[in-house]
Amino acid sequence: MELFDVYSLFDLVPEKARGCKVWDNKGNEYLDLYGGHAVISIGHTHPRYVAALKDQLDKIGFYSNSVVNPLQSRLAKRIGEVSGYPEYFLFLDNSGAESNENAVKLASFHTGKDRMIAFRKSFHGRTSGAVALTDNPRIVSPFNANHKVTFCELNDLEAVERELSVGDVSAVIIEGIQGCGGINVPSEGFLKGLRELTERYGACLILDEVQSGYGRTGRFFAHQWDGIRPDIITMGKGIANGFPCGGILISPRFKAVKGMLGTTFGGNYLAMAAANAVIDIIDDEKLVDNALNVGNHLLENIPSSPRIKEVRGRGMMIGIEFNEDVSSLRRTLLFEKHIFTGVAGSNMVRLLAPLCLSIEEADTFINALKDIL
Ligand SMILES: Cc1ncc(COP(=O)(O)O)c(C=O)c1O
Repeated sequence: MELFDVYSLFDLVPEKARGCKVWDNKGNEYLDLYGGHAVISIGHTHPRYVAALKDQLDKIGFYSNSVVNPLQSRLAKRIGEVSGYPEYFLFLDNSGAESNENAVKLASFHTGKDRMIAFRKSFHGRTSGAVALTDNPRIVSPFNANHKVTFCELNDLEAVERELSVGDVSAVIIEGIQGCGGINVPSEGFLKGLRELTERYGACLILDEVQSGYGRTGRFFAHQWDGIRPDIITMGKGIANGFPCGGILISPRFKAVKGMLGTTFGGNYLAMAAANAVIDIIDDEKLVDNALNVGNHLLENIPSSPRIKEVRGRGMMIGIEFNEDVSSLRRTLLFEKHIFTGVAGSNMVRLLAPLCLSIEEADTFINALKDIL
């Protein structure tokens, strides 16, 4: 049997990793500014994280959500404390897409309505509802396209109000910073405007922080830059540093009803051991502050060049938009300079480094980019 061939692969076999470094099976060392697509938050193979998972595996690996699991309550308490949302509730699942599914489902149960507003260039995942909320027709099958979703332009409050005023909208869903759509930061006042409008028209506000959350932008959640409090916040990626895990934070105004949400694997012991270690390490090692400082250093020092159109983003979520296709530049970065980067569209190099990136490591990238340009 062969693998179903849906991924474009670099010809490279990572074999081990530590912090922001990765080594391939030939012993070559790479600097990781991609973090396995924004997943590595505390750095690869952090000793406390590894010990927590090994220790848990020796005790109990899995039981269902029909028994008390104190690791789940501990995680809820710690995320509440570290994120600034102690009064919210936590529901645990397995991925970013599943978190968004649960968020829109909960909003729809709550409001009794079925239409959602999402934004142009959004990405919310590949499961049925999440992909329907994603503005990319190439990944939406006819089966997924039947959900009631209206796309508005990012930053267009008037368009959102026109849709909300119809009265059938359950929720507005927006990324804290658009990731796959090209590191688009909502313009100042836009999230505040969404908060006011959703309150006025009785719709929920869902912040997809799957990529922009968990410290990546130099605040625990990207929307905290705008001083708003959404009704539901969705999480994934960095929450367990690569162990599959997702979750949603839910405002106290939602009422839990037995059975309304559920999952077999969500909140399992191993994911909880990983996620508890991650939140403690983020807190103890002040990784959110580090993401901000090193991110600012990158933003200030990425060289200007006629080949670069714009540099934008926050913390460890930075897009360098070129005036050209970046595939050959990324290959040079990877195979000659030994630096992993991400991409968004054809012209943007996307940096999604672990939150523990050091100034020296950032300088390695800046110097490599200067050389190439
Ligand atoms: C903003 C956003 N939401 C949701 C997802 C989907 O997450 P997952 O691939 O874990 O389902 C992603 C993944 O890239 C994302 O960037």
